[in-house]
Amino acid sequence: MMSEHDTVRAMQWRDDALYLLDQRKLPERVGYERFETAEGVAEAIRSMRVRGAPAIGIAAAYGVVLAVRRRYQENLQQWRTLIEQDLQTLAASRPTAVNLFWALERMRAHFQAVNGDPVPQLLQLALQWHEDDIAANRRMGESGARLIGGSKGLLTHCNAGSLATGGYGTALGVIRSAYCRRGGGKIFATETRPWLQGARLTLWELQQDKIPATLIADSAAGWLMRSGAVQWVVVGADRIAANGDTANKIGTYALALLARRHGVKMMVVAPTSTIDWQIDTGEAIEIEERSPNELLMPYYQDGGEGIDAWNPVFDVTPSELIDAIVTEKGVVMNPEPQGLSMVK
Ligand code: MRU
Repeated sequence: MMSEHDTVRAMQWRDDALYLLDQRKLPERVGYERFETAEGVAEAIRSMRVRGAPAIGIAAAYGVVLAVRRRYQENLQQWRTLIEQDLQTLAASRPTAVNLFWALERMRAHFQAVNGDPVPQLLQLALQWHEDDIAANRRMGESGARLIGGSKGLLTHCNAGSLATGGYGTALGVIRSAYCRRGGGKIFATETRPWLQGARLTLWELQQDKIPATLIADSAAGWLMRSGAVQWVVVGADRIAANGDTANKIGTYALALLARRHGVKMMVVAPTSTIDWQIDTGEAIEIEERSPNELLMPYYQDGGEGIDAWNPVFDVTPSELIDAIVTEKGVVMNPEPQGLSMVK
């Protein structure tokens, strides 16, 4: 159920297809595109029409439904083999968010076991995950808001809201819940260079939901913390290692260091599908590097001699810099040194 402070949904299954809000165009244009193939969904993930770890995972699950539909029509006997190339295309779309691989593995396990027409059952599964994700976000929202209590202010980074999930959001879910309880205080959002998820998406989403927010340049975060205006940094995650090390949008690590220096607390909010139990520490997380053009444009349209840019789009915050990891299964305080085993 949506409400006055929760009105945005970026992803919808309707009329036998997946509809995605094109996030590259926000806030200027609000437009949904229709996707009927797994290649189309993979391209939407790669080009960041849909982005944010949980949203990528759910979109991939719908992508598998589209692939199964096509392959099953194509060849009733061989569809389980044929579909492997579609899974590979989806898996190759972006490397860091583990929710993508989690969703593909779970879908594979289900279609291996299915009897008869697989499409209705797999669609049911994807729809159920989508709903479960929203329910998990609401639960995390309440737990996180309780932790925050009556702080003077919160700072978030990137967009970990409705746009980045099935709905409601992880970090923005906590901020949304805190706002609805009249707690949390003033909300600050970083611009989040270079793709500007904070400026273009978080501000827009909060504006739609009538939640006032203040934008800061990424480089203003230290000065903001020093002023005493925020007590918590609240962020999402793309992949969390078993020890609590957390990959999230580039700049999160710097915010965690600044937070520790200024006595500000650091909260990571993520569903347990974002935890990669196969890796012990963040060392093993692949960090996506995107085109230098994301940084160089619009100043150096075609690069040029002697001009280059390095564009890693995620970083890893070590668990000792994190005060709380909020999941739908519970809150882990000070994950270092025990890790996340209590929410396994
Ligand atoms: O490159 P993006 O926009 O996909 O990066 C998104 C983030 O880093 C989010 O903080 C993370 O995926 C959590 S979204 C609930």
